[in-house]
Amino acid sequence: MPEPTGPDPSTTCARPPIPNPSKTPPLAPPIQLSSVYEFQGVDQVDAVYHGMLDGFVYARDGHPNALQLATKVAALEGGEAALVCASGMAAESALMLSLLGQGDRVALSEGLYGRTTMLVAKELARFGIGHDLFDATRPDSLRPALTPRTRLAFVETLSNPLLRLADISGLAAIAREAGVILAVDHTFAPLLCRPLAMGADVVVHSATKSIGGHSDVTLGLIVGRRELIDRTAPIASTFGLTGNPFDSWLALRGVSTLAVRTDRACASALEIARRLEGHRSVVRVHYPGLPGHPDHELAARVLTGGFGAVVSFDVGGREEADRLIRSLRHIPYAPSLGDVSTTLSHPTTTSHRSQSPEQWARQGITPGLIRLSVGIESVDDLWSDLDQALGRS
Ligand SMILES: Cc1ncc(COP(=O)(O)O)c(C=O)c1O
Repeated sequence: MPEPTGPDPSTTCARPPIPNPSKTPPLAPPIQLSSVYEFQGVDQVDAVYHGMLDGFVYARDGHPNALQLATKVAALEGGEAALVCASGMAAESALMLSLLGQGDRVALSEGLYGRTTMLVAKELARFGIGHDLFDATRPDSLRPALTPRTRLAFVETLSNPLLRLADISGLAAIAREAGVILAVDHTFAPLLCRPLAMGADVVVHSATKSIGGHSDVTLGLIVGRRELIDRTAPIASTFGLTGNPFDSWLALRGVSTLAVRTDRACASALEIARRLEGHRSVVRVHYPGLPGHPDHELAARVLTGGFGAVVSFDVGGREEADRLIRSLRHIPYAPSLGDVSTTLSHPTTTSHRSQSPEQWARQGITPGLIRLSVGIESVDDLWSDLDQALGRS
């Protein structure tokens, strides 16, 4: 019988590769997909679990790509720490599951992203968690929405689709006085302002939008004090809500251009908003950078990074909106936002389709409303597509 020259092919196939001997580190961060990490012995595992040695154990609890992304976004928001979750909704769920128990209540601002309202009003309600509504643009309206069992107040920096601006400082003062945590969904406004510096306790992002920036990531983040993140992280892991390495890597890559994308998109959005305002086929434009917007004064004071990449406008009715959508040559009807290329959405048939016409009317949402997410193309090219399509609507 011939001498065996090495392990059986099945063993060679199954074993992990020999570590790369290179002493020169890669400039770009590696994607580390491993779902588990290897220990040198039981003392080392104890040291990692007791926090005496830095190390990852199991990817659902943490991995290098999530840590890099969390560190970067925490720095951008001026927070002590951050947690990467599997989506914006996972981030919201993790936050609420860690802060709320049976009998507690949440103060929700009116007109939040539909799934956020659904998470509280439908799903958390099944576990005995109640809610009260208030208007984030009027801090005084928060007071009557607070009860002795209210633990959390939840707002969006800029509301969808009418881009009303939450008065974060005013809300934070009232929440603090009542011992209630103020959470801000900052998905529409990364880099435009810093909610934590304005008194909010925690910031939530859907990184699926501007942070990822290329419509190829589904991810979310929570940013805040280390104590809050340390409390939320194991709960997010238990519920299976944490984010994966590849999406974390993609989002981190998105962050590297976030500032320049934001500057460019905000400048173009302001220009488009001004041009739309003067267009005969447009009934109304909603953009906080326009003097006619109800929150313009506050926006001019607090949105130091620009008025945002989203512009909403009304073309009269559902038929006109549909004609516009069909007439556009380059701007796709794709119900998300924050992409490098401009996209549009039609709230009453997408994000707000589960609401009744009465609910739309209460919020000022109309069937002719279009929500444009401005990208980084030339503003004149964008305008020429919009202008020719508006000419037919
Ligand atoms: C303001 C806002 N918050 C949260 C979410 C949820 O994020 P995700 O789709 O990443 O779960 C969205 C999604 O559209 C959103 O617009």
